[in-house]
Amino acid sequence: MSVQKIVPLLRCPGSHTDLALQGEDLISEKGMRYPIIDGIARLLTPTKSPEEETVRQKMQKFYEQFTFPGYDGIDSPGILMDKARASAFGLWVDQAISPFATVLEVGCGTGQMTNFLGLVSTRTLIGVDQSIASLKLGQGFKERFGLHNIHFLQGNIFQMPIKENSVDVLICSGVLHHTPDPKGGYEELLKLVKPGGKILIGLYNSYARIPLGIRKMIFTATGNAFRSLDAHMRRKDVDQSKKEIWFADQYKNPHESWHSVDEVLGWFDETHVKFLSGVPAIAANLPGEEAGLRLFEEHPKGSALQHAMKQLGWMFTIGREGGLYVLVGEKL
Ligand SMILES: C[S@@+](CC[C@H](N)C(=O)[O-])C[C@H]1O[C@@H](n2cnc3c(N)ncnc32)[C@H](O)[C@@H]1O
Repeated sequence: MSVQKIVPLLRCPGSHTDLALQGEDLISEKGMRYPIIDGIARLLTPTKSPEEETVRQKMQKFYEQFTFPGYDGIDSPGILMDKARASAFGLWVDQAISPFATVLEVGCGTGQMTNFLGLVSTRTLIGVDQSIASLKLGQGFKERFGLHNIHFLQGNIFQMPIKENSVDVLICSGVLHHTPDPKGGYEELLKLVKPGGKILIGLYNSYARIPLGIRKMIFTATGNAFRSLDAHMRRKDVDQSKKEIWFADQYKNPHESWHSVDEVLGWFDETHVKFLSGVPAIAANLPGEEAGLRLFEEHPKGSALQHAMKQLGWMFTIGREGGLYVLVGEKL
């Protein structure tokens, strides 16, 4: 059973004590039992705060129905590799991460990024999400192609089943803004990263999301007419079923919040995380980066004025789709 390999990294989400494998279950020192079903360890426990738990349950229901991102047309490692690399971001992430890293992706959804990065068999990949329907798609792919270094777990951001200081790279993109306490979730996840480890945090941008907010109002007022106003819905290279999942994720989501660059840089400062880079860049690029961004190298941070100008510009670039941006940092 592949989960065996990562048991030393796991903890009981409630008591934070070690877990041991016993038959088809993981058992905590206090006797809590977490079953492994269809290869996925079920380590999901409710959030302690009732407000967060209410939103979490809504989100779980939503993503059990809309498994994001869609897997249609991705039926081999070669196609997954082509698609991920075509996005540039996927390529840059892959290039930045060491072949020997332990990588945790939280809110991995259907696990496309987790599986893509795990195509380098010397890495250890752990994908955590609360949606079993999504995880099963990722697990199905990994099993079909015998990717034994990849592990999918069901878990909750606010009750993580991973030990502190245990991963080299944390990826959490498009997730925290679907919780009622994005900063609190970020702080929980940061604890799991080793000192010197890298974090990639992707969030909806307060400026870049404005065009989508306007489109959402139009769709709501017109009963979803004019869906082609969304650039993603017009794409010819994306299957219809993937487009439907995109539309639901972007326009029908039960909960989301928007975050500026300076807000997230403030989280970094407060938690002793050094800013490394932004996608898109938040100030200047490094020499030679025309060929691709070097995500784990330190980039100029820029000023609040520069960030405001950049983010206004993003309304017309990344704002044409979802307005998602990523900040990369190093835990000091
Ligand atoms: C928009 S999808 C992002 C998927 C993937 N990261 C991507 O960028 O394509 C958001 C994911 O966050 C997960 N999620 C939301 N709240 C969560 C929580 N409290 N704990 C674990 N996963 C959560 C959802 O189940 C969903 O799969």
